[in-house]
Amino acid sequence: MEKPIIEVEHLTFRYDKRVKTETLSDVSLCIHKGEWVAIVGQNGSGKSTLARMLVGLLTPESGTIRIDGKVLNEQTKWELRSRIGMVFQNPDNQFIGTSVQDDVAFSLENLNIPYHEMKSRVDYAIDLVGLSAFKAHDPSHLSGGQKQRVAIAGVLALNPDVLLLDEAFVMLDPRSRRELLQTLQELNKNQDITIISITHDMNEAASSDRVMMMKKGKIVNSGTPKEVFSNVQDLEPPFAEKLRRTLISRNINVPEHYMTEEEMVRWLWK
Ligand SMILES: Nc1ncnc2c1ncn2[C@@H]1O[C@H](COP(=O)(O)OP(=O)(O)OP(=O)(O)O)[C@@H](O)[C@H]1O
Ligand SMILES: [Mg+2]
Repeated sequence: MEKPIIEVEHLTFRYDKRVKTETLSDVSLCIHKGEWVAIVGQNGSGKSTLARMLVGLLTPESGTIRIDGKVLNEQTKWELRSRIGMVFQNPDNQFIGTSVQDDVAFSLENLNIPYHEMKSRVDYAIDLVGLSAFKAHDPSHLSGGQKQRVAIAGVLALNPDVLLLDEAFVMLDPRSRRELLQTLQELNKNQDITIISITHDMNEAASSDRVMMMKKGKIVNSGTPKEVFSNVQDLEPPFAEKLRRTLISRNINVPEHYMTEEEMVRWLWK
């Protein structure tokens, strides 16, 4: 296993210090370089709060966050922020530039990078997300999927170790969602970029390396999709698992364990 890129120990947080209930309660986790981790859980369970904390937008009440071995604090957060790129749900709120390349370049503005390197990084990032033909286009006129690609390119231009996606695919139609997921899966494999994806889409979670489930500010389950979806009953299961449970309820003899979509297809064809 590769070394940890993110280590979180005993993280606790409340938005309102007068309230006793903790928004994050003793959260510990470890994510290794190159992993694809899906964070799932009901509305209000603390997923976005945890995400904001990982990029230094919120300060923990207690506990520590280490990025690549370095403790995240007031002094280190500016430097460490470029290691974790975060993409949010609604891409419309994220545009600044009037062309795709300007917008992507803007994320590098504060880094004092020489012009040539800036240009090559911007081109590279735009190419990675498949938008080379749209460089000069106005990002506000693009489709939802393309806008989200621009937002991701802006983050990738920073050359981050980790891409943190907070329901970044919600606004997309199924096709753009599939295409973007595939692009990210390739980045994850070929560039060794660690991906943390907060999602309500269990089919997406099913294709991750590891699923972490949050409930009331705690991580209550963590394991391979197989482990988590077989154990947890109050999670809307991925399609293949739903089908398996329906078949069981109709007294059809199916394997007793969770199956991925491919395993299910293979089994059905037998
Ligand atoms: N800025 C804020 N100020 C006060 N309370 C907040 C703030 N943001 C979130 N909360 C509260 O903190 C808790 C956790 O919210 P959070 O947004 O982290 O949940 P989530 O798991 O991301 O939910 P969702 O799936 O709906 O996005 C909720 O009870 C929420 O109401
Ligand atoms: Mg959220």
